[in-house]
Amino acid sequence: MVNFDILEELMKRDRSVRRFDESFPVHESTLSRLVELTRYCASGRNMQPLRYRLVMSKEECEKVFPLLKWAGYLPDWDGPKPGERPTAYLVQCLDTRYGKDCLCDDGLQLQTITLGATTEGLGCCIIKAFDPAKLRDALAIPEGLEPRYVVAIGSPVEKVVVEPTDGTPDADIKYYRTADGVHHVPKRPLSELIVSKP
Ligand SMILES: Cc1cc2nc3c(=O)[nH]c(=O)nc-3n(C[C@H](O)[C@H](O)[C@H](O)COP(=O)(O)O)c2cc1C
Repeated sequence: MVNFDILEELMKRDRSVRRFDESFPVHESTLSRLVELTRYCASGRNMQPLRYRLVMSKEECEKVFPLLKWAGYLPDWDGPKPGERPTAYLVQCLDTRYGKDCLCDDGLQLQTITLGATTEGLGCCIIKAFDPAKLRDALAIPEGLEPRYVVAIGSPVEKVVVEPTDGTPDADIKYYRTADGVHHVPKRPLSELIVSKP
């Protein structure tokens, strides 16, 4: 049954995860179901120009992983070590036959995927920091499909907590990790998001 509380709880759980149980496989059928969800997303001009390359074999995961940059706010961390790497990826590609932009279709679909994955007990990290040309080569993605984002997917092994910022515009929004390995994500409070009336 759909209700607000369920959606709110799902949103709270849907955190970016960067460490995974690498012994836990993510099957092609799971990835297909996540892509199926994107069919129901709103789409600018209803053009639906986004495509997905499914990656779940060990061989292809090993090709994708070194092309990704993880956690820019954690400069002393080189990304997940062996044993903690994602076991699947969805590479979101723009089919350029439909134009050079997709308005905000990309973001709508990315979050749909991460929400869907969260309901399955999986964790995701949306990744923009990669070289699209290198990724296209590594996966032999056909011409005319431009990789836009990668969603790294796996079974999470890290705890992520959300905490409010102090509510000032220049509050520190950088995520950080404490000695116990917990990843902390500052989020601006509601009071800062709502524009005050004159
Ligand atoms: C458009 C976009 C691009 C992102 N790119 C990266 C990235 O390249 N590498 C990375 O480690 N995380 C990336 N992230 C994850 C963000 O760092 C993460 O969403 C943010 O720290 C807030 O954490 P949360 O997702 O748990 O709310 C990206 C997220 C978004 C929405």
